[in-house]
Amino acid sequence: MKKHKIAVIGGDGTGPEVVAEGLKVLKAVSKKFGFEYETTMLDWGGERYMRTKEVIPADGIETLKKFDVIYLGAVGHPDVKPGILEKGLLLKMRFDLKQYINLRPVKLYPGVWTPLKDKGPDEIDYVVVRENNEGLYTGMGEFRNKGAKDEVAIQTSYNTRAGVERCIRYAFDFTRKRNKRKQLTLCGKTNVLTYAWDLWERTFYEVAEEYPDVKTDYAHVDATCMWMVKNPEWFDVIVTDNMFGDIITDLAAMTQGGMGIAAGGNINPEGVSMFEPIGGSAPKYTGKNVINPLAAICALGMLLSNIGEEEAANAVEKAVMAATAGKIKSMSAGKMGMGTSEVGDYIASLI
Ligand code: IPM
Ligand code: MN
Repeated sequence: MKKHKIAVIGGDGTGPEVVAEGLKVLKAVSKKFGFEYETTMLDWGGERYMRTKEVIPADGIETLKKFDVIYLGAVGHPDVKPGILEKGLLLKMRFDLKQYINLRPVKLYPGVWTPLKDKGPDEIDYVVVRENNEGLYTGMGEFRNKGAKDEVAIQTSYNTRAGVERCIRYAFDFTRKRNKRKQLTLCGKTNVLTYAWDLWERTFYEVAEEYPDVKTDYAHVDATCMWMVKNPEWFDVIVTDNMFGDIITDLAAMTQGGMGIAAGGNINPEGVSMFEPIGGSAPKYTGKNVINPLAAICALGMLLSNIGEEEAANAVEKAVMAATAGKIKSMSAGKMGMGTSEVGDYIASLI
């Protein structure tokens, strides 16, 4: 039997705490479904950076390539200048490991409070496929006359036909496989960003011809935000670029109960993928046993599906749903009705 090799990066703040709860659940499902795994803990993040002046070792990416999958806690340390850890760890993994898809399910679980009035689990259940390697995130741009009165800052959105097409193809395949409403919405800004979204739109409709069973739809990103609040049931799968995907998935996360429950995957379909709770490192809650580990546990569920442990993945999601419908009172830190480690124990007991 294959032994799954999992790299675990707890990272900063509450990252290590939530990941520890995910690992409890991993242990429980591996027993139940009879698969083997081996975890390797990597101490990459803010503390290591302050000690050594490097975020990850020089051969860090090569090290990661030897694993089947990566499980990440959180990135962001109050004593490290913003950007260093994000660029040096999170974005570095996404780019250097060619994790070109950021997959973010938006699903309201039973019993979870949503700020959307009159909407429940039947209405809030869609997935955002965010392009993860290009767009405004490539860091391209320049200053002109920096510091002067006539300063100009240019930030370029970089979109390649190949990069856009692989993302759109993934989204069509995903929509087909998900087999729910079989509707894929392109979320863009064709009315203003007439280079990038011209390419996206052309590619979208060209690829669509190969998927006659998938309904296509287009919405500008601002309108998408509006519908996500007013009529989330209109969405099945949304595909969008890196920046828009970043923004709309924070809005989406709030409608599914907040950062305590929102998980995502950074996927290289041909390589090593990484799974993470999408919230931050929440420094003020660190070490207090109050942070909600459900997002990290949901990320573990996605990870299991990625390594082919479909039954275990389903069991994790079912257990989370039983818990949100059951004893867990709220998704907010400190208001769950139990501590971080008790939530982990509870989910493990429901497996
Ligand atoms: C996310 C985060 C990151 C992003 C930050 C931390 C660089 O907000 O995963 O959505 O912008 O992608
Ligand atoms: Mn974000």
